[in-house]
Amino acid sequence: MAGRLEGKAAVITGAGRGIGEAIARAFVREGARVAIAERDETNGQAVAASLAGEDRRAIFVRCDVADPEAAKASVAASLSQFGRLDILVNNAGVNVFHAPLETDADEWRRCFAINLEGAWRMAKAALPAMLASGSGSVINIASAHSFSIIPGCFPYPVAKHGLLGLTRALGVEYAAQGVRVNAIAPGYVETQIALDYWNTFPDPAAERQRAYDLHPPKRIGRPDEVAMTAVFLASDEAPFINAACIVIDGGRSVLYHD
Ligand SMILES: NC(=O)c1ccc[n+]([C@@H]2O[C@H](COP(=O)([O-])OP(=O)(O)OC[C@H]3O[C@@H](n4cnc5c(N)ncnc54)[C@H](O)[C@@H]3O)[C@@H](O)[C@H]2O)c1
Repeated sequence: MAGRLEGKAAVITGAGRGIGEAIARAFVREGARVAIAERDETNGQAVAASLAGEDRRAIFVRCDVADPEAAKASVAASLSQFGRLDILVNNAGVNVFHAPLETDADEWRRCFAINLEGAWRMAKAALPAMLASGSGSVINIASAHSFSIIPGCFPYPVAKHGLLGLTRALGVEYAAQGVRVNAIAPGYVETQIALDYWNTFPDPAAERQRAYDLHPPKRIGRPDEVAMTAVFLASDEAPFINAACIVIDGGRSVLYHD
């Protein structure tokens, strides 16, 4: 049976580990060819090598999304390797968490350069090829922080709220030309970031359990669960889903706290 993304080519930023890696693996499993656009060369190369196969289904492209030239070059590399570009996943992101008044200008800029401008830069580089072919799917990995504020996490939620705005603006602008732009907003997902965070506590296991207990299913999300939704949005199964955001948080955001 043909894969759900057979024949399509994708650029996925930050696909060297975590959610981006899971998306790359799911995309290849569904028949896509993928460019791993990653700033960490070791991880990026390793993921690309494990997925490439004999027909070079995956390539590594060194890319810091904060660098305007690297964003353009990674789209160009994927176009020259695969001859087309159908899907862009803006997944690269970093937690920049401070109290607002303790956020210096460099930290503010770093947060926006990667989490928001990086997505715009990649979209700006990728959209011309999608518009030329008359179809495309851009998927922005937003966050629960696109809707809610946790004190002390500034300015990450400001950038993630902006990423939702970017999704809506581009989705409306290019829909008539066949390009859909959507977002996925994961809640707490078990990646290295979560493990590192729990390890900052004297009892990491207790902190992990505390995170699990915040969620109605009594666990947190898995990277492959975000990847399954990315496959759906990237596929031809979601032709009228545009400028939308799918929340994946096990229901945490609607849980009423008394
Ligand atoms: N893990 C969660 O709980 C969670 C929840 C909601 C949203 N998210 C979002 O999902 C995305 C992936 O998160 P993750 O948990 O997999 O993180 P992660 O840190 O495990 O992986 C992020 C990857 O992006 C790469 N990266 C970082 N900055 C980059 C840059 N400037 N250019 C290119 N690559 C860069 C890193 O090298 C890394 O491989 C992020 O946008 C994050 O904000 C994560």
